[in-house]
Amino acid sequence: MEAGEAITESRGNAHKLEVVAASLQRGGRAGGIGAVRPVLRDVSFSVRSGEAFGIIGPSGAGKTTLLRLLNGLETPDRGSVLVDGEDVARMDVLDLRRRVGMVFQSPALFPGTVGSNVCYSLAIRGIPDDERECRGLACLGRVGLWDEFWDRSASELSQGEQQRVAIARALVNEPEVLLMDEPTSALDPTSASRILSVVRSLNRDVGVTIVFVTHLMHQAREVCDRALVLVGGRSVEEGHVPGLFEDPRSELTRRFIAGELDAGSGTPGGGPDCGRADCGPAGEGGA
Ligand SMILES: Nc1ncnc2c1ncn2[C@@H]1O[C@H](COP(=O)(O)OP(=O)(O)O)[C@@H](O)[C@H]1O
Ligand SMILES: [Mg+2]
Repeated sequence: MEAGEAITESRGNAHKLEVVAASLQRGGRAGGIGAVRPVLRDVSFSVRSGEAFGIIGPSGAGKTTLLRLLNGLETPDRGSVLVDGEDVARMDVLDLRRRVGMVFQSPALFPGTVGSNVCYSLAIRGIPDDERECRGLACLGRVGLWDEFWDRSASELSQGEQQRVAIARALVNEPEVLLMDEPTSALDPTSASRILSVVRSLNRDVGVTIVFVTHLMHQAREVCDRALVLVGGRSVEEGHVPGLFEDPRSELTRRFIAGELDAGSGTPGGGPDCGRADCGPAGEGGA
């Protein structure tokens, strides 16, 4: 599909995000020395406005890289990424980051208070103190933390509380889309479950479009309406949840669900070749 066709289709179907035939290579040192490896290979999908969309697959599959394309932290070598039909490559980066927020695996808060973390981006935009505090406290409440947290040092919070502050920090810009990269991976089960319920509520009650990266099927079931299965940098299957897990069409999806794809197997060129057309030959060079 050409990018122009995607734009037209996007407006007709209220697609919030589209990735069109995106490929990305990594590696290769200056002077042409060192191997170049495909990380994403001809990946296409779209996310509807208000949807909770999962990107699932084993470690090394390219999930984080794919997510980073969606707010311009990475640029594809080929293909395009569209937000509301507009090519990310041509958008103002600050506007893009306001509209498409991101929550990383590790919260990586700044030293300082919870309030200063939550309101950081409002401060650099010159929003007045009282408005900052009002918006920041509302976001803190949205993630289940109360006002008493505002003046506490971010470093003294538990990991789960820190991740909730990171979500509040992303929410303060009132993003239309929230990209979440395995946001519970460093958390105990209780904290993880709190984060999942915050994500569900943001999607269902507030209407934020969510793209949720995980390698955990139960999390995808809990959060996502639809999901894309990524293995070895390729999209192997996309479908509704939980149907995708109950009746997978791709052998690779079946093997992933069965826990038969271990960490290294997600890596392009490094994994198993199941022998089917949808598997992709291991070590195939072309992105
Ligand atoms: N900055 C980088 N330089 C070189 N290779 C990278 C870089 N980031 C990721 N990769 C490689 O790209 C592949 C996909 O990585 P990633 O997107 O992090 O996968 P996932 O999130 O699914 O675990 C892996 O083989 C990884 O080693
Ligand atoms: Mg990752």
